[in-house]
Amino acid sequence: MSLVRLINLPSLGDERGGLVVLEGNDTVPFDIKRVYYIFNTQKDVSRGFHAHKQLKQVAVCIKGKCRMLLDNGLTQESVLLDSATKGVLIDAMVWHEMHDFSDDCVLLVLASDHYDESDYIRKYDEFLIKV
Ligand code: TYD
Repeated sequence: MSLVRLINLPSLGDERGGLVVLEGNDTVPFDIKRVYYIFNTQKDVSRGFHAHKQLKQVAVCIKGKCRMLLDNGLTQESVLLDSATKGVLIDAMVWHEMHDFSDDCVLLVLASDHYDESDYIRKYDEFLIKV
């Protein structure tokens, strides 16, 4: 299976504007337990640089764009998140980095569990040993 698993989020928009629904166990392939968003990212700042032991996440740029790098320890792939209708699944044990944030970028992330620092692997060397 490809490392980059894009999720097409159908737009229910009409002449009045856009509308996208994110639904747990439907377009989002897990129960959604947490939602957060990253915005006002400063120029030349990259974020992420970690993997999760168990957590699954779906990320979608609901405004602006950024580039998500995914790495399963064998291969790396980049995906440009540049549409409110394009989500990407960040599976467990996938190293991810976010780069090239546009000034207006709002990156929405849906997560399968509550925040738990012990689920993070923040050292790339450690990730390569565990993956
Ligand atoms: P961090 O994981 O470093 O963000 P990123 O990987 O996107 O660069 O998170 C920044 C801080 O926010 C860190 O102290 C952990 C905290 N945090 C929470 O408390 N709850 C959360 O749900 C998230 C995502 C982060």
